[in-house]
Amino acid sequence: MAIKKVGIVGCGLMGHGIAQVAAQAGMDVVVRETEQGALDKGLGRVSKSLAKLVEKEKIDQASADAAAARLTGTLELADLADCDLVVEAIIEDLAIKKALYAELGKICKPETILASNTSSFPVAEMGAASGRPERMVGLHFFNPVQLMKLVEVVRTPDTADDVFAEARSFGEAVGKVPVGASDTPGFIVNRLLVPYMAEAMRMVERGDATVEDVDTAMKLGCGYPMGPFTLTDYVGLDTTLSILQGWHERYPDDALLTPPKILEEKVAAGKLGRKTGEGFYDWKGDKRA
Ligand code: 3HC
Repeated sequence: MAIKKVGIVGCGLMGHGIAQVAAQAGMDVVVRETEQGALDKGLGRVSKSLAKLVEKEKIDQASADAAAARLTGTLELADLADCDLVVEAIIEDLAIKKALYAELGKICKPETILASNTSSFPVAEMGAASGRPERMVGLHFFNPVQLMKLVEVVRTPDTADDVFAEARSFGEAVGKVPVGASDTPGFIVNRLLVPYMAEAMRMVERGDATVEDVDTAMKLGCGYPMGPFTLTDYVGLDTTLSILQGWHERYPDDALLTPPKILEEKVAAGKLGRKTGEGFYDWKGDKRA
């Protein structure tokens, strides 16, 4: 395993989890945020999660302390220059991501592998922006990163074979099961999952079933751990909407990829799900109220 030092750009919902699993796997991790407040919040989430894993006896206190010691925060992108791998987990905005990749392409050592945790944007476009498209992959993790076992490893037509293999090995090293995916909208999981969530919302909009009954139906009828509305609250209504909006712009004729009104209205009202305490349900911290 050649990846010893990992840079994470963005310490939000996904970034803090990716940083944590890499640190738990014994890698040195530098996580970069743009503001001190966001950095403190993200690192606070890591501490909370490590404490929870100790409490549940999933890891011992010594490993939690060692993981925390391997993780450092920074506000400077230049501190990621000598990382073997940089994983970007910033806001889902392609223009902002491309600007970041252009900078990373200039700053990072030539061997650095660049990876995006994007849910829905073309990885190849970010690779092109970086100026090193052969060293670009997608590494798409699932929420909560600390508990979900999957990582999608996305290769573009430009991704070099050794970069793809190294990215898969990284996925395994951080305790995930990697699956290979092509650089298509939503890769494997979100291409199936997000239209399913949107169809659930349209069902409720038509008055065919209630939010609660749809969730109960999918939990008990299909054995899913969460119904589509609980899951949308969990992932974030804004994230779900931004995925659908991006696809709708690119594929305006595909009715399955059209954002439902109910979702647009809730996001406009600031009801983003678990993180704001209200979405399709009310939330108290990490639990449904
Ligand atoms: N770190 C440490 N512990 C955590 C944690 C974290 N990040 N998140 C939750 N836990 C803890 C909980 O607090 C809970 O502790 P408690 O029992 O003391 O309250 C414990 O883990 C287990 O929680 P549960 O008892 O609720 O256990 P579950 O068996 O229900 O597992 C789950 C929780 C894994 C989240 C499960 O409900 C699940 O699989 N849900 C579906 C999640 C899913 O589908 N995610 C994918 C979303 S799509 C995505 O991410 C892609 C993106 O691009 C949109």
